Amino acid sequence: MRLDKCVADHSTYSRSDVKQLIRTGKLTVNGQICRSGDRQVDPDCDEIALGGVVLFTASKRSYMMNKPAGVISATRDGKTPTVLSLLPPELRKGIFPAGRLDIDTTGMLVLTNDGDLAHRILAPKSHISKYYLVQLAEPFQDSYRAAFAAGITLEDGTICREAICQGTKCGEKTALVALTEGKFHQVKRMFAAVGNHVEHLHRIQMGGLPINVKLGFGDYMLLLNKDIDDLLKSPDFSAVAEFCYANFCSEWINCKA
Ligand code: URA
Repeated sequence: MRLDKCVADHSTYSRSDVKQLIRTGKLTVNGQICRSGDRQVDPDCDEIALGGVVLFTASKRSYMMNKPAGVISATRDGKTPTVLSLLPPELRKGIFPAGRLDIDTTGMLVLTNDGDLAHRILAPKSHISKYYLVQLAEPFQDSYRAAFAAGITLEDGTICREAICQGTKCGEKTALVALTEGKFHQVKRMFAAVGNHVEHLHRIQMGGLPINVKLGFGDYMLLLNKDIDDLLKSPDFSAVAEFCYANFCSEWINCKA
């Protein structure tokens, strides 16, 4: 595909930003400055860099998706549409979701063809937190903070790792939760264990990488190397809470699309 289309389609740069970057000699393909936007690149083997910083090495590709409700986090399913079906067919080869969100959970999902990255994101020992904005049936109780921090025991006796759970300024029936593991229906079962009920979950951040708020439900973008670096970082919980409040409260109800 064309270089300008490839970079614009898969990054936060607009087509005109990309044209400007190309005009000023800032984009390189396989180490060579490229001044022509119609240069054909092969997303499976060309390395594209901006000002010397590799934007993406296309043989390893990872995408951030804003998962809508109603699709499952799998590569195939007989009847229900999968997150993969939201990617164009030419991008699907070898790509799988790094972790699962329930069919009714919305928000940030990473899709990748990089098994090592998926492992790093998912392995509890990597301590990559996943942050969920939770709509509860009943008001948040302060006692949840200590209970989550101590490790919730689920109904079947499973003990969860310590987690952070705080009320949010989005409303008395909301919570922001950070988990470093991903057991089946974990957030829903944790709140059931403290006598509440999850009405909706929206994942807003993974590690140090917040969801791109420009992505509508079902939209996706290619992750650049710097995004992957952020993904593997550990942010302050307070920074995530601020991001949450700044971006989701007013439209929280709309997150249930
Ligand atoms: N916890 C859940 O209960 N569901 C999800 O989809 C993710 C975390």
